[in-house]
Amino acid sequence: MTEKNVKFKHMKDGDKEDYLLLQKYEEKYVSLTYERIIEELTRQGKNTMEGYKITRLDHGLQSATRAYNDGADIDWIVGALLHDIGDGLAPQNHDRFSAEVVRPYVRDEITWVIEHHGIFQMIYYAHHYGWDKNARDKFKDNIYFQTCSDFCERWDQKSFDPEYENKDLDFFKPLIKEVFSRPPYKDEYIKKNEVLGLPKV
Ligand SMILES: [Fe+2]
Ligand SMILES: [Fe+2]
Repeated sequence: MTEKNVKFKHMKDGDKEDYLLLQKYEEKYVSLTYERIIEELTRQGKNTMEGYKITRLDHGLQSATRAYNDGADIDWIVGALLHDIGDGLAPQNHDRFSAEVVRPYVRDEITWVIEHHGIFQMIYYAHHYGWDKNARDKFKDNIYFQTCSDFCERWDQKSFDPEYENKDLDFFKPLIKEVFSRPPYKDEYIKKNEVLGLPKV
């Protein structure tokens, strides 16, 4: 009879059989990350912070559509779509949360931009709260500074527009699936220290 669950109650008591069993379940669980991403995006279309003219899902779809229309590659399109996916569970640090979601699967430049877009976006509004709108300047020597600045200016800060005709979630599903089907943390995808920037338009 095949065991469905591990025998242990404390992790340190598990044997090899237990951990091989978990490994089998983990492969399946990780392969379903794509579906959980879709669930969270769908939730962001129903229940997000009030006050904006559009939902967080529509904000992500607009950002991704702008990336797509600019001829950006799949890493950028999926990155733009998911750059605020952490907003539900980590509203105080959603940028870092969102970056961790994509980090194993896209190149380093995109992960860095998502991780830091919050502080870069402050240039548009921080002065209204008496904060430092140039807080981003502490990263001015970073190789990805200009990319992050361009991401915010061209795709993020513009995408709160109820008139904008974005593509729907179904359009982007195959792209999300492709990215989250990649083997994680492979150099061929991560490409650290490579600066491509946003596509020229
Ligand atoms: Fe954000
Ligand atoms: Fe955003």
